[in-house]
Amino acid sequence: MGKLKLGILGSGSGSNMQSIVDAIEAGNLDAEIRLVMADVEGAKILDRAARHSLKGLYLDCSPWKTKLEGPAEDRCIELLKEAGVDTVVLAGFMRIVKPKLLAAFPNRVINIHPAILPAFPGVHSWKQALDYGCKVAGVTVHFVDAGTDSGPIIVQKTVPVLEDDTPESLHARIQVEEHVAYPEALRIIASGKYSIEGRRVRIG
Ligand code: GAR
Repeated sequence: MGKLKLGILGSGSGSNMQSIVDAIEAGNLDAEIRLVMADVEGAKILDRAARHSLKGLYLDCSPWKTKLEGPAEDRCIELLKEAGVDTVVLAGFMRIVKPKLLAAFPNRVINIHPAILPAFPGVHSWKQALDYGCKVAGVTVHFVDAGTDSGPIIVQKTVPVLEDDTPESLHARIQVEEHVAYPEALRIIASGKYSIEGRRVRIG
């Protein structure tokens, strides 16, 4: 397999994108970031992209608030293709991606979710885990399919839930593992040594 050509979509601080940048710069991931897009104007992820001289831009996804569809979806696909992207990385992108984008990059759209799926899909998953009384929480990196946080799982990592945890402290502990899990999942994809068999991703 050649170098991965990544297109990164995010909405927030971009710490997961940072972990990918760091892995590439340290020579621990055979990839390059061709384009970073944010659906939130002024999102920190775009500042981080600029700091690393990566092409970054704001993608206006209105009128929808929770999905990427219509003209914005078309524009997104066009920009990713123009940039030569072969793998789309959702890094804190808080919108549902629709079948058109998935069809443009078959089995090449990856997401990170702050929970041990299939538990707690959706938003604020760390708070859902805490409120439920879970003793462990964690992170899942998975291929994106037409459902919500439901595609084949590439990597999962767990963290303990501590007695005095708040949603913020638990999320912070999960994020430490996210920053290990995303580069690890992308290394698996870059190696080409995996197959998707139904719901299972067989590695090696
Ligand atoms: C991360 O915790 C990521 O798992 C979560 O948003 C945060 C983004 O942080 N994603 C979701 O909840 C997706 N449903 P970041 O902007 O610092 O990478």
